[in-house]
This record gives sequence, structure tokens and C-alpha cells, in this order.
Amino acid sequence: MDRYQTIIEPFRIHAVEPIRITTREERAAAIETAGRNLFALHADNVLIDLLTDSGTGAMSRDQWAAIQHGDESYAGSPSWFTFLEAVTELWPFRHVIPTHQGRAAEKILFSVIGGAGKVIPNNTHFDTTRANVEATGAEAVDLVIPEGHDPSAIHPFKGNVDVDALEALLTARGADVPVVFVTITNNSGGGQPVSLENLRAVRALCDRFRVPLFLDACRFAENAWFIKTRELGQADRPIPDIVRDMAALADGMTMSAKKDGLANIGGWLAMNDDALADACRNLLILTEGFPTYGGLAGRDLEAIAQGLREVVQEEYLHYRIRSTAYLGDALDVAGVPLVKPFGGHAIYLDARALLPHVPPLQYPGQALAVALYVEGGIRGCEIGTVMFGRHPDGSETPAAMDLVRLAIPRRTYTQSHIDYVIEVVQRVTDRAGELRGLRMIQPEPTSLRHFTARFEPLA
Ligand SMILES: Cc1ncc(COP(=O)(O)O)c(C=O)c1O
Repeated sequence: MDRYQTIIEPFRIHAVEPIRITTREERAAAIETAGRNLFALHADNVLIDLLTDSGTGAMSRDQWAAIQHGDESYAGSPSWFTFLEAVTELWPFRHVIPTHQGRAAEKILFSVIGGAGKVIPNNTHFDTTRANVEATGAEAVDLVIPEGHDPSAIHPFKGNVDVDALEALLTARGADVPVVFVTITNNSGGGQPVSLENLRAVRALCDRFRVPLFLDACRFAENAWFIKTRELGQADRPIPDIVRDMAALADGMTMSAKKDGLANIGGWLAMNDDALADACRNLLILTEGFPTYGGLAGRDLEAIAQGLREVVQEEYLHYRIRSTAYLGDALDVAGVPLVKPFGGHAIYLDARALLPHVPPLQYPGQALAVALYVEGGIRGCEIGTVMFGRHPDGSETPAAMDLVRLAIPRRTYTQSHIDYVIEVVQRVTDRAGELRGLRMIQPEPTSLRHFTARFEPLA
């Protein structure tokens, strides 16, 4: 297979979902009604949905079969034990706490260990992670390596933590740091991986300052694939072994099974600390459910367990990473500014570079995302000043980058869908100079404003 250039999907299609073809006029009307917020669109009006890779993938035949094994006993369901075994096979933490999705795990954890005066470092906090930290009054600090802020800088592990900056923070404020987080892969920084070497260095600092290390492990299998293919000495190792190495370096994790759980819903919180687990379980019971199902039905636990077995298969990961790069390579050849090297789950368009005439506070990423939708029905997601520009003190500043993320749902779209995306992006970027900035209609939402804000075009 390696002799051929063509990437084939390592599956056949077994059930199909129709997608609705819309006209440009229909789309222009739909986006206006949605207040130029792509989250507010009726999904029937979207042709190729690259808003997120979260929960939007196709489940396999074996996952659908596993769903039939779902046992809905309130306590001690066999599906819980199937789930627990699959999770601890890869992540052998002492306590696993199932949640309905990743942010529920974050909410529980930070409610217990966060609070005013605390500071939580991460390579880059994802939006829900940052919001859950800040909701407790704690401060969320991003400490990715400098290359991680430069869309065009080439580095094999651009998601790495800046170890010197972390050491400086721990030296200055170690007593205020209840946990160090590392996000694998670094979604908000372009889906960039973190090396085992970097995790080991972070671990050593955590040991020195006696601070626990947690992973936000949503895309752990993609991260493991990058370690296998890019890190010295890892090429011959099975993916599950690399995952267990990452686990052994951490004290706990948060997880959204909607990504590398290959499921449509689910997540978990895991840790070794008994007292912390007790406190988290008490909150779980209050907000999610009994500890053997958390926020999930037995059938969801089964789907995740099977998804975890599939996601670490090399044929799947090879296809996954190569097919994402296929989109990136074609846009790169066409001269579209992109975050490079390409991330695992998405291609990120550099809207700030593409629309230099639109200042960051006029939201170039949002303007570009709206244009892609109107032109071709493609729904991407702004990852920039709309998402990260507003601060708890009320001020608004440009985000580190203004990107549009084209996230690829797992096992969902074919190569011809992606060829169409390439054409549409090229057509929009060819006339990027004509795109105008946007103004957010006031009053804006008080939290996670990108989900519900409305925009109007600037004159
Ligand atoms: C890195 C990262 N952390 C946390 C989350 C939150 O997970 P969920 O959407 O399941 O709440 C996401 C979701 O996109 C993510 O990408």
C-alpha cells in the first residue's frame, strides 16, 4: 500500500446520510438569520460540516453492535465494567469517573481544586477548559513553546509546553498551582502534538514542585501517532504502548470521548489520588449521575469501549492523519496561509495573514468563516479573537492568532468531499481582499461568547 499515493479510507460505507445542496442565496439568507454565527445555523443548511470533530464522526459496525449490548442497570451495569476495562487498558489510573462529555469532567475537577487565587498552567487551554477554570475564580495561563504562537513555524511538536516558562511560574507561584495541565494534541494551538520528551520534562518539574500533572487527552491517539512517526526511537512501538507511556507520566486526565473515543457522546475524569477522587465523585453524583454511569447510558459506555479499541489501530490512524494532511497539502500548494505542520484533526487557515486589512478586533477569522459558508456551504469555526479576546476583567484584546479551523469529523467525509472543500477555500481566498470585518452586536454573551454572539458587517 505504501507504494501508492492515493489514500484510501480503511472502511466501506454501510449506511449513508443525505446532505442537502443549497443555493448561494439560501445560504446568504440563512447566515443573516443566524446573526453571522455559524453555531446558530440549522445544520440542514450546511453542506460540509467542519465545525468540529467532536461527536460528529461515524461509528463503526462494531460500535453499533456494541450498543445492542448496552445494559441500563442503574448501578453496577456490565456496560460500566466493559467501559472501565477499555479505559484502564490504555489509561491505568486508579479511579475512572464517567461524565457526559469532557467539559463535565473539567467542571467537576476545577470545582474541587480551583478557586480564587489559584493559577492553572496548560500548553493552551481549550475554550471550555479555560472557562471552567475561570468560573471558579482561578487564572488560566497558556505556556506553549514560542513556535506554538507562530502559524508558519515548523516544529515537530509545536504543542510542547515551554518548560522554562513553567519553571518560572512554579518558582514564583508554586503554592497557588493545584495542577499542571497538558493538552494532547493542543487543539487551540492548531491540533499540534506534544512529545514524550516534553511530557517527561514537565513531569520532572511537577515532581520537583510537588504538583500533580493532568492530561487533557481528547486526541490522545492522534498524539501517539505523531510520537510514533516523529519522535526518535518510537517508530517501532505499538500505539497502545505509547499511550500507556503518556499515562504513566500523569496523575490524571480529563477526556472527551467525542474525539478519540470515536463516540457521539461521553467523557471521563481519571486520577490516582483517592481523596481527590472521593471529592469528585461526590460532585458527580450531584450533577451527572451514579459513579458507574456518570452522565451516560449503558449503550454509550459500550460504544466508547469499542471506539477505544478501534482508535489505536494503525491503519485507522495512518488514514486519519494522512487524509487531514491531504487537505492541508492542497491548500498549501494553492498558497493559502495555514498553520503548519498540519494538526491531526483539522486544518487551520491563518485568517490574520489572509485578511491583513481586517484588524483582529474586527474578527478576521469570523469574517472568513462566514465567507466560506456563503460561498460553498462549508461550516468551519473561528478560533481567534471572538473565542479568546474577552477577558474576565472586561477588557478585549486580540487573541494570539486569528484562525479558522476546518475540523475533519472521523470516518465521515470522502476524498471528493474534501476536493470540493479545497475548491471553495481557493475561491474565497482568491478574493480575500474584498472581505470586510464584523462588529459584535451588544450586549454580548457573558461566557463563551463565540457560541451565541451575533455579528453585523462593518461598513
Ligand atoms: C482539547 C479539548 N478539551 C476539552 C474539550 C471539551 O470536550 P467536550 O466538548 O466533550 O465537552 C474539547 C472539545 O472540543 C477539546 O478539544
